[in-house]
Amino acid sequence: MNIPFEIHRAPGTMRARVEDLRRDGRRIAVVPTMGALHEGHLALLRAARAQADIVILTIFVNPTQFGPNEDLSRYPRDETGDLAKARSCGIDLAFCPEAAAMYHAGAQTFVDVLELAKPLCGASRPGHFAGVATIVTKLFHITLPHVAVFGEKDYQQLAIIRRMVRDLDFAIEILSVPIVREPDGLAMSSRNAYLSIEDRRAALSLSAGLAAAQAAYAAGERAATTLLAAARAPIEAEPLARIDYVELRDAEELTPVERVEHRSVLAMAVVVGNETRKTRLIDNRVIG
Ligand code: PAF
Repeated sequence: MNIPFEIHRAPGTMRARVEDLRRDGRRIAVVPTMGALHEGHLALLRAARAQADIVILTIFVNPTQFGPNEDLSRYPRDETGDLAKARSCGIDLAFCPEAAAMYHAGAQTFVDVLELAKPLCGASRPGHFAGVATIVTKLFHITLPHVAVFGEKDYQQLAIIRRMVRDLDFAIEILSVPIVREPDGLAMSSRNAYLSIEDRRAALSLSAGLAAAQAAYAAGERAATTLLAAARAPIEAEPLARIDYVELRDAEELTPVERVEHRSVLAMAVVVGNETRKTRLIDNRVIG
Protein backbone atom coordinates (compact mmCIF):
# COMPACT_ATOMS: atom_id res chain seq x y z
CA MET A 1 0.00 0.00 0.00
CA ASN A 2 1.37 3.42 -0.96
CA ILE A 3 2.00 6.06 1.66
CA PRO A 4 1.51 9.80 1.06
CA PHE A 5 4.74 11.55 0.03
CA GLU A 6 6.45 13.40 2.88
CA ILE A 7 9.54 15.57 3.23
CA HIS A 8 11.35 15.36 6.55
CA ARG A 9 13.93 17.89 7.70
CA ALA A 10 14.52 16.79 11.28
CA PRO A 11 16.47 13.57 11.93
CA GLY A 12 14.17 12.63 14.83
CA THR A 13 10.89 12.77 12.88
CA MET A 14 12.48 11.02 9.90
CA ARG A 15 13.64 8.13 12.06
CA ALA A 16 10.32 7.89 13.92
CA ARG A 17 8.49 7.62 10.58
CA VAL A 18 10.79 4.82 9.38
CA GLU A 19 10.48 3.00 12.69
CA ASP A 20 6.69 2.92 12.16
CA LEU A 21 7.12 1.64 8.59
CA ARG A 22 9.54 -1.06 9.74
CA ARG A 23 7.07 -2.14 12.44
CA ASP A 24 4.52 -2.56 9.63
CA GLY A 25 6.97 -4.93 7.92
CA ARG A 26 7.94 -2.58 5.08
CA ARG A 27 11.29 -3.06 3.34
CA ILE A 28 13.11 0.28 3.20
CA ALA A 29 15.59 1.48 0.57
CA VAL A 30 17.60 4.67 0.83
CA VAL A 31 19.38 6.60 -1.91
CA PRO A 32 21.77 9.13 -0.34
CA THR A 33 22.55 12.11 -2.61
CA MET A 34 23.78 15.68 -2.51
CA GLY A 35 20.96 16.74 -4.85
CA ALA A 36 21.41 18.27 -8.34
CA LEU A 37 19.84 15.06 -9.56
CA HIS A 38 20.61 13.77 -13.06
CA GLU A 39 19.81 10.54 -14.92
CA GLY A 40 22.51 8.72 -12.94
CA HIS A 41 20.68 9.47 -9.69
CA LEU A 42 17.34 8.53 -11.24
CA ALA A 43 18.82 5.13 -12.14
CA LEU A 44 19.67 4.70 -8.44
CA LEU A 45 16.11 5.62 -7.46
CA ARG A 46 14.63 3.17 -9.98
CA ALA A 47 16.91 0.40 -8.69
CA ALA A 48 15.80 1.24 -5.15
CA ARG A 49 12.15 1.17 -6.24
CA ALA A 50 12.62 -2.35 -7.59
CA GLN A 51 14.14 -3.48 -4.27
CA ALA A 52 11.86 -2.12 -1.58
CA ASP A 53 8.38 -1.10 -0.46
CA ILE A 54 9.50 2.33 0.66
CA VAL A 55 12.12 4.45 -1.13
CA ILE A 56 13.75 7.32 0.75
CA LEU A 57 15.78 9.94 -1.11
CA THR A 58 18.18 11.96 1.01
CA ILE A 59 19.43 15.33 -0.21
CA PHE A 60 22.22 16.88 1.83
CA VAL A 61 25.23 18.83 0.58
CA ASN A 62 27.56 17.51 3.26
CA PRO A 63 30.07 20.21 4.29
CA THR A 64 32.53 17.81 5.92
CA GLN A 65 33.38 16.07 2.65
CA PHE A 66 34.50 19.29 0.96
CA GLY A 67 38.03 20.64 1.42
CA PRO A 68 38.62 24.35 2.20
CA ASN A 69 39.28 25.25 -1.46
CA GLU A 70 36.60 23.05 -2.97
CA ASP A 71 33.19 23.86 -4.40
CA LEU A 72 30.89 23.64 -1.34
CA SER A 73 29.53 27.18 -1.73
CA ARG A 74 28.82 26.84 -5.46
CA TYR A 75 27.67 23.22 -5.45
CA PRO A 76 24.42 23.22 -7.51
CA ARG A 77 21.26 23.22 -5.37
CA ASP A 78 17.70 22.80 -6.68
CA GLU A 79 15.54 21.04 -4.12
CA THR A 80 12.24 21.74 -5.90
CA GLY A 81 13.52 20.42 -9.23
CA ASP A 82 15.17 17.43 -7.52
CA LEU A 83 11.99 16.44 -5.71
CA ALA A 84 9.93 16.68 -8.92
CA LYS A 85 12.39 14.38 -10.73
CA ALA A 86 12.58 11.97 -7.82
CA ARG A 87 8.81 11.81 -7.44
CA SER A 88 8.55 10.82 -11.11
CA CYS A 89 10.59 7.75 -10.08
CA GLY A 90 8.09 6.96 -7.35
CA ILE A 91 9.95 7.86 -4.14
CA ASP A 92 7.92 7.76 -0.93
CA LEU A 93 9.90 9.95 1.44
CA ALA A 94 12.58 12.61 1.19
CA PHE A 95 15.00 13.56 3.93
CA CYS A 96 16.38 17.07 3.33
CA PRO A 97 17.99 18.34 6.53
CA GLU A 98 19.76 21.64 7.21
CA ALA A 99 23.47 21.36 8.06
CA ALA A 100 22.74 22.48 11.63
CA ALA A 101 20.40 19.52 12.12
CA MET A 102 23.05 17.04 11.00
CA TYR A 103 26.13 18.22 12.88
CA HIS A 104 25.98 18.82 16.61
CA ALA A 105 28.13 21.66 17.92
CA GLY A 106 31.22 20.09 19.44
CA ALA A 107 30.89 16.83 17.48
CA GLN A 108 34.07 14.77 17.99
CA THR A 109 33.25 11.44 16.38
CA PHE A 110 33.87 10.44 12.80
CA VAL A 111 34.18 7.26 10.77
CA ASP A 112 37.39 6.70 8.84
CA VAL A 113 38.02 3.69 6.61
CA LEU A 114 41.79 3.67 6.79
CA GLU A 115 43.61 2.07 3.85
CA LEU A 116 40.91 2.29 1.17
CA ALA A 117 40.64 6.04 1.73
CA LYS A 118 44.36 6.75 1.19
CA PRO A 119 44.97 6.45 -2.58
CA LEU A 120 43.23 7.97 -5.63
CA CYS A 121 40.79 10.71 -4.58
CA GLY A 122 41.85 10.31 -0.95
CA ALA A 123 45.36 11.49 -1.86
CA SER A 124 44.19 14.76 -3.40
CA ARG A 125 41.16 15.31 -1.14
CA PRO A 126 42.40 14.73 2.43
CA GLY A 127 39.53 14.12 4.85
CA HIS A 128 36.99 13.71 2.04
CA PHE A 129 36.21 10.05 2.68
CA ALA A 130 36.02 10.47 6.45
CA GLY A 131 33.35 13.10 5.72
CA VAL A 132 31.55 10.69 3.38
CA ALA A 133 31.75 7.68 5.72
CA THR A 134 30.57 9.76 8.68
CA ILE A 135 27.58 11.29 6.90
CA VAL A 136 26.59 7.97 5.33
CA THR A 137 26.71 6.37 8.79
CA LYS A 138 24.49 9.13 10.15
CA LEU A 139 22.08 8.85 7.23
CA PHE A 140 21.89 5.08 7.79
CA HIS A 141 21.08 5.61 11.48
CA ILE A 142 18.39 8.15 10.62
CA THR A 143 16.73 6.33 7.70
CA LEU A 144 17.18 2.74 8.99
CA PRO A 145 17.28 1.14 5.52
CA HIS A 146 17.38 -2.55 4.64
CA VAL A 147 19.14 -1.63 1.39
CA ALA A 148 21.12 1.43 0.28
CA VAL A 149 21.88 2.24 -3.35
CA PHE A 150 25.04 3.98 -4.62
CA GLY A 151 26.47 4.73 -8.06
CA GLU A 152 29.58 3.07 -9.46
CA LYS A 153 30.96 6.37 -10.78
CA ASP A 154 32.20 7.10 -7.26
CA TYR A 155 34.05 3.79 -7.30
CA GLN A 156 36.31 4.45 -4.31
CA GLN A 157 33.39 5.81 -2.29
CA LEU A 158 31.43 2.63 -3.02
CA ALA A 159 34.38 0.41 -1.99
CA ILE A 160 34.74 2.41 1.23
CA ILE A 161 31.04 2.21 2.08
CA ARG A 162 30.96 -1.53 1.44
CA ARG A 163 33.99 -2.03 3.70
CA MET A 164 32.53 0.21 6.41
CA VAL A 165 29.23 -1.74 6.34
CA ARG A 166 31.13 -5.00 6.64
CA ASP A 167 33.59 -3.81 9.30
CA LEU A 168 30.96 -2.15 11.50
CA ASP A 169 28.25 -4.82 11.03
CA PHE A 170 25.59 -2.56 9.60
CA ALA A 171 22.59 -4.78 8.73
CA ILE A 172 22.28 -3.03 5.38
CA GLU A 173 22.65 -4.45 1.89
CA ILE A 174 24.66 -2.21 -0.43
CA LEU A 175 23.48 -2.22 -4.02
CA SER A 176 25.45 -0.49 -6.78
CA VAL A 177 24.29 0.78 -10.15
CA PRO A 178 26.52 1.17 -13.24
CA ILE A 179 27.64 4.59 -14.46
CA VAL A 180 25.08 6.36 -16.63
CA ARG A 181 26.70 8.18 -19.56
CA GLU A 182 25.65 10.90 -21.97
CA PRO A 183 25.30 9.62 -25.57
CA ASP A 184 28.85 10.87 -26.31
CA GLY A 185 30.35 8.94 -23.36
CA LEU A 186 30.66 11.64 -20.68
CA ALA A 187 29.80 10.12 -17.29
CA MET A 188 26.84 11.92 -15.74
CA SER A 189 27.79 14.11 -12.80
CA SER A 190 26.25 17.04 -10.96
CA ARG A 191 29.55 18.84 -11.59
CA ASN A 192 29.02 18.65 -15.37
CA ALA A 193 26.82 21.71 -14.78
CA TYR A 194 30.04 23.75 -14.27
CA LEU A 195 31.44 22.91 -17.73
CA SER A 196 31.62 25.51 -20.49
CA ILE A 197 31.15 24.31 -24.08
CA GLU A 198 34.96 23.96 -24.48
CA ASP A 199 35.30 22.21 -21.10
CA ARG A 200 32.49 19.83 -22.03
CA ARG A 201 34.39 18.86 -25.19
CA ALA A 202 37.67 18.47 -23.25
CA ALA A 203 35.84 16.31 -20.68
CA LEU A 204 35.25 13.68 -23.36
CA SER A 205 38.94 12.80 -23.05
CA LEU A 206 38.18 10.87 -19.84
CA SER A 207 35.81 8.35 -21.41
CA ALA A 208 38.03 8.30 -24.53
CA GLY A 209 40.98 7.31 -22.31
CA LEU A 210 38.99 4.55 -20.63
CA ALA A 211 37.81 3.25 -24.00
CA ALA A 212 41.39 3.27 -25.36
CA ALA A 213 42.63 1.25 -22.38
CA GLN A 214 39.72 -1.17 -22.68
CA ALA A 215 40.50 -1.64 -26.40
CA ALA A 216 44.15 -2.36 -25.58
CA TYR A 217 43.05 -4.87 -22.93
CA ALA A 218 40.66 -6.53 -25.39
CA ALA A 219 43.57 -6.79 -27.86
CA GLY A 220 45.53 -8.77 -25.25
CA GLU A 221 47.56 -6.09 -23.45
CA ARG A 222 47.93 -6.82 -19.70
CA ALA A 223 50.78 -4.54 -18.57
CA ALA A 224 49.53 -1.67 -16.41
CA THR A 225 52.10 0.79 -17.81
CA THR A 226 50.88 0.22 -21.37
CA LEU A 227 47.18 0.27 -20.45
CA LEU A 228 47.72 3.46 -18.44
CA ALA A 229 49.61 5.09 -21.30
CA ALA A 230 46.66 4.32 -23.58
CA ALA A 231 44.27 5.82 -21.03
CA ARG A 232 46.37 8.96 -20.53
CA ALA A 233 47.04 9.73 -24.20
CA PRO A 234 43.70 11.40 -25.11
CA ILE A 235 43.73 13.40 -21.85
CA GLU A 236 47.32 14.57 -22.31
CA ALA A 237 46.45 15.64 -25.84
CA GLU A 238 43.73 17.93 -24.49
CA PRO A 239 45.00 21.43 -23.57
CA LEU A 240 42.06 22.11 -21.22
CA ALA A 241 42.54 18.87 -19.24
CA ARG A 242 45.06 18.21 -16.48
CA ILE A 243 45.44 14.74 -14.97
CA ASP A 244 45.14 14.47 -11.19
CA TYR A 245 45.56 10.69 -11.36
CA VAL A 246 45.06 7.82 -13.81
CA GLU A 247 45.68 4.51 -12.06
CA LEU A 248 45.04 0.79 -12.26
CA ARG A 249 44.11 -0.74 -8.94
CA ASP A 250 42.80 -4.00 -7.56
CA ALA A 251 39.01 -3.77 -7.81
CA GLU A 252 38.44 -4.66 -4.12
CA GLU A 253 41.51 -3.56 -2.17
CA LEU A 254 42.45 -0.60 -4.38
CA THR A 255 46.10 -1.66 -4.21
CA PRO A 256 48.24 -0.92 -7.32
CA VAL A 257 48.40 -3.64 -9.98
CA GLU A 258 51.25 -4.17 -12.44
CA ARG A 259 49.46 -6.64 -14.68
CA VAL A 260 45.73 -7.06 -15.10
CA GLU A 261 45.31 -10.73 -14.20
CA HIS A 262 42.12 -10.33 -12.17
CA ARG A 263 39.35 -7.73 -11.69
CA SER A 264 40.98 -4.30 -11.65
CA VAL A 265 39.66 -0.79 -11.83
CA LEU A 266 41.07 1.85 -14.10
CA ALA A 267 40.24 5.03 -12.19
CA MET A 268 40.93 8.63 -13.08
CA ALA A 269 40.43 12.18 -11.85
CA VAL A 270 41.00 15.02 -14.30
CA VAL A 271 40.71 18.76 -13.80
CA VAL A 272 39.06 20.38 -16.79
CA GLY A 273 39.01 24.10 -17.56
CA ASN A 274 41.27 27.14 -17.71
CA GLU A 275 42.93 29.20 -14.96
CA THR A 276 39.70 30.85 -13.83
CA ARG A 277 37.31 27.95 -14.20
CA LYS A 278 38.27 24.47 -13.03
CA THR A 279 36.11 21.37 -12.66
CA ARG A 280 37.43 18.13 -11.21
CA LEU A 281 35.83 15.11 -12.88
CA ILE A 282 36.20 11.41 -12.08
CA ASP A 283 35.50 8.33 -14.13
CA ASN A 284 36.40 4.65 -14.06
CA ARG A 285 36.07 1.32 -15.77
CA VAL A 286 36.45 -2.16 -14.34
CA ILE A 287 38.56 -4.42 -16.54
CA GLY A 288 39.87 -7.93 -16.26
O1 PAF B 1 27.85 10.45 -3.61
C1 PAF B 1 27.36 11.43 -3.03
O2 PAF B 1 26.53 12.17 -3.55
C2 PAF B 1 27.82 11.74 -1.61
O3 PAF B 1 29.18 11.51 -1.44
C3 PAF B 1 27.00 11.00 -0.53
C4 PAF B 1 27.18 9.49 -0.62
C5 PAF B 1 25.53 11.35 -0.67
C6 PAF B 1 27.47 11.43 0.88
O4 PAF B 1 27.31 12.80 1.06
